[in-house]
Amino acid sequence: MTDRPFDVLVVGELNADLILRGDVTPAFGQVEQIVDDATLTVGSSSAIFACGAARLGLRVAFIGKAGDDEFGRFLLRELQQRGVDTRGVVIDPHLLTGLSVILSRPFDRAILTHLGSIAALRFDEIDSSLLSRARHLHLGSYYLLDALRPDVPRLFDEAKARGLTISIDTNYDPTEQWAGGLREALQRVDVFLPNETELLAITHEDSIEAGLDRLAEIPTVAVKLGARGAAARRGLQIVYADSIPVKVVDTTGAGDSFDAGFIYAYLAGQDLAQALRFACACGSLSTRAAGGTTAQATLDEALVALGV
Ligand SMILES: Nc1ncnc2c1ncn2[C@@H]1O[C@H](COP(=O)(O)OP(=O)(O)OP(=O)(O)O)[C@@H](O)[C@H]1O
Ligand SMILES: [Mg+2]
Repeated sequence: MTDRPFDVLVVGELNADLILRGDVTPAFGQVEQIVDDATLTVGSSSAIFACGAARLGLRVAFIGKAGDDEFGRFLLRELQQRGVDTRGVVIDPHLLTGLSVILSRPFDRAILTHLGSIAALRFDEIDSSLLSRARHLHLGSYYLLDALRPDVPRLFDEAKARGLTISIDTNYDPTEQWAGGLREALQRVDVFLPNETELLAITHEDSIEAGLDRLAEIPTVAVKLGARGAAARRGLQIVYADSIPVKVVDTTGAGDSFDAGFIYAYLAGQDLAQALRFACACGSLSTRAAGGTTAQATLDEALVALGV
């Protein structure tokens, strides 16, 4: 397996984030307001995960969909600069690349999203030869991938048949139904990476422990608890880890950077407690700067933060 050219194949959504900071509460009536800062960055959970995994040293390939436009070109360039192979990204000239405008105030933010190409990736557009060239498949933002969602079990079966392990981070379900065939998808994964809200909504339980118990058929589940750190279950073992104290600037993408750290440790064969601590360090360190990818940890930074 290690002779395969990629460690992780990411299937997911692509969009750019335009983050505005300062006096960002809009005033209509054609008022022109001056803001302090405007930054265009890599958005979307799956792309932030891919960049985080590459930053840790994993060999990463990405499958997703973008439009033939400046935001699409920006994302491809940014992914490539971070060492992510983008040959599996489908460019659809009939669609616009997704964009989120984030109006960021010190303790809150409002997000305006144009979905664009985010939901449009189809199963038949996935270059299945990439499956044979990777060790692990990670699927991000299950609930945004409308066109692919019915075929996710099929994709996972193909990945399994080619010997890959599989992880999934559903992220939030905008419809709040938490259905859409998720059970069939989860039956096939090795690692599930929800946050607390998602775990409780999916399992209809009201505690982390009960939620983890409910998902006992999934070999490994790690649940993100924001500033409190994370918990994980494998078989009968349940472990907890604290976050790392950092000067938090922006938590965008902390969960995706956590996922990247967890999968790094999983593929390195670390035990559950070690993997969870490493993932928490990666999540916490990513909050040091604005945007999801700016402050993502290198392997050395994560190890130093853990005192290793
Ligand atoms: N305020 C914080 N201070 C320190 N560490 C944090 C903070 N917020 C998040 N983290 C770290 O990042 C990890 C993942 O963050 P979080 O729980 O916010 O995930 P998430 O809800 O999936 O996030 P996302 O918005 O990226 O989907 C946490 O387990 C923790 O280690
Ligand atoms: Mg998340």
